Amino acid sequence: MSVLKMGIIGVGGIAQARHLPAFKQMTNVEVTAVQDVNGTRAQEVATKFDVPYAFDNIQDLFEKVDAVTICTPNKFHADISVAALEAGVHVLCEKPMAMTTAECEAMVAAAEKNDRLLSIAYHYRHTAEGRLAKGAMQEVGDPLVTRVQAMRQRKVPGWGVFTNKELQGGGSLIDFGCHLLDLALWLLDDPKPVEVMGKTYDRLSKVPNQVNDWGTFDHETFNVDDHVTSYITFEDGSSMQFECSWAANIKEDHTTLTISGADGGLSVYPFEVYQPKFGSMMETTSQVEGGEEAAGLVQAENFVNSCLGTDELVVKPEQALKVSQLIEAIYESSETGTSVRLK
Ligand SMILES: NC(=O)c1ccc[n+]([C@@H]2O[C@H](COP(=O)([O-])OP(=O)(O)OC[C@H]3O[C@@H](n4cnc5c(N)ncnc54)[C@H](O)[C@@H]3O)[C@@H](O)[C@H]2O)c1
Repeated sequence: MSVLKMGIIGVGGIAQARHLPAFKQMTNVEVTAVQDVNGTRAQEVATKFDVPYAFDNIQDLFEKVDAVTICTPNKFHADISVAALEAGVHVLCEKPMAMTTAECEAMVAAAEKNDRLLSIAYHYRHTAEGRLAKGAMQEVGDPLVTRVQAMRQRKVPGWGVFTNKELQGGGSLIDFGCHLLDLALWLLDDPKPVEVMGKTYDRLSKVPNQVNDWGTFDHETFNVDDHVTSYITFEDGSSMQFECSWAANIKEDHTTLTISGADGGLSVYPFEVYQPKFGSMMETTSQVEGGEEAAGLVQAENFVNSCLGTDELVVKPEQALKVSQLIEAIYESSETGTSVRLK
């Protein structure tokens, strides 16, 4: 097989903004079919992107494709992934992997049982800065302290179902913080977390007359977190200070991931390395140009080439499962008011 037949499930915002444009730029993948519970939308998107088939049920789609990209609300990630894997179809599922660790485990088991590939769209790993940082980790030596801040000023998503806990499983953490948590764990080579403290907030989003840059939402039905802090310790003695927000009262948006290690330190955004050399602290900077669009194409290429047997998945399902375990522990710690110990 030299051209992979791809199906897209759930053709809303991210399917149209990232996945369809990326696959359309590539020569070794053809988007053969789209599916959405909203059949009219499926047909409109098929016409817009010149896709041969549009369906409103997934079994019809599975018959036409070798792989699927799942872009539905989080609640459906696990069931649709398992159904696709059982039908012998490779899966690229949007982040977060699923809403619970148990669901993620079922997805991993289905991939193993059916010998199909499963990956999760944690595209921050594919940013130019993220890839540079991965390559530079040997300059850092043993990691000691990691700092993560995924911060948006007053940007609760006012579209889709992002403020609905039943359909998404949570808010700023499971939706946005998950990317930086995944990137940090990957850079650190998947250390084993042992203890997690977490605290979630929703106060800014529960009042009327919102100042919000990303549309409007109903403050009365809003039932997810808009700001989360956490402190995580790992078996190797290192620790992580984590914070994410959709709606903080801060000067401006910023995404920070810095790691201080025994031999040096680095920042991912912007990419910089700090090291003691020649009796002084030296700083290395780079001229890479990042951007989410470029990362979306690298992500698509990695998944398609892996399905065709010419590459290896960058985002492995067991790694994404660990991100979901941490998310679950942060939420549990906030609910119980105590730290969560992980086995
Ligand atoms: N990687 C990223 O940076 C990124 C960015 C945005 C969204 N996402 C993820 O993508 C997913 C979708 O987000 P979105 O912004 O595109 O949402 P959206 O609301 O714009 O689109 C979701 C689509 O899924 C369809 N749908 C709902 N239930 C379905 C089902 N059971 N089967 C088939 N289709 C179904 C809806 O009709 C809609 O067309 C979410 O999991 C979200 O976390 C990821």
